[in-house]
Amino acid sequence: MEKKEQLYEGKAKKVYATEDPNLVIVSYKDDATAFDGAKKGTIVGKGVINNQMTNRLMAKMEKAGIPTHFVKELSERDTLVKKVSIVPLEVIIRNISAGHFASRYGVEEGIVFSEPTIEFSYKNDDLHDPLMNAYHAVALKLATWEEIELIKKYAFAVNDTLKAFWSECGVTLVDFKLEFGKTVDGQIVLADEISPDTCRLWDSKTNEKLDKDRFRRDLGGVEDAYAEVMKRLMAHDAQ
Ligand code: TMP
Ligand code: ASP
Repeated sequence: MEKKEQLYEGKAKKVYATEDPNLVIVSYKDDATAFDGAKKGTIVGKGVINNQMTNRLMAKMEKAGIPTHFVKELSERDTLVKKVSIVPLEVIIRNISAGHFASRYGVEEGIVFSEPTIEFSYKNDDLHDPLMNAYHAVALKLATWEEIELIKKYAFAVNDTLKAFWSECGVTLVDFKLEFGKTVDGQIVLADEISPDTCRLWDSKTNEKLDKDRFRRDLGGVEDAYAEVMKRLMAHDAQ
């Protein structure tokens, strides 16, 4: 399957048409942004890691019964996926306080919740991805109630599978962001990526940050952190 015209360029990926109207190719870049694109940089090798990590994790989600857009990895940076229209909601699951949860509610990072939380943001950089509840999403016709219920069910199921997997790799899954899409035949599927760009991953022993917070907060060692989590994933899967 070959790339045809570019359909879209996002902050971290490009999307290309293929000869099949139901399939597109996503191509992962090394570009990194934070704070709605206000901070820009490059994380060398990130595109390759995020592509390969996302695909391996998507395959695990499929195995756990969660439908995804994943079809086939084509190369180091390129993957064939089902064409979807993205539901413009960032779906965030949190197991431990961090990031905007900690700043919004004035609490420290690292509080372990007795059950995971879910929240939605409206995916709109100009508005700085404002927090949005399900009623607002339905009012704006971003999704139906049935779709919201399905998205919630899938998001918590992703959390169960992903948390257990990372734990076996010595990594604590603090929080993460998912995006869902609607296929041409109307099915809601998990889309976008699951990577250190979109998850907070802490070393289980030391709580060292092994994710994009190293870039957002200028902590250094960004490339090494991405390589470390990928190495642990590969080592786990090789067992
Ligand atoms: P937050 O604490 O900044 O709201 O982030 C929650 C999770 O969502 C964290 O794992 C990082 C991820 N995330 C994205 O993937 N994209 C974004 O634009 C933001 C703000 C967060
Ligand atoms: N979505 C953010 C940005 O726009 C990136 C992030 O903080 O993960 O730049």
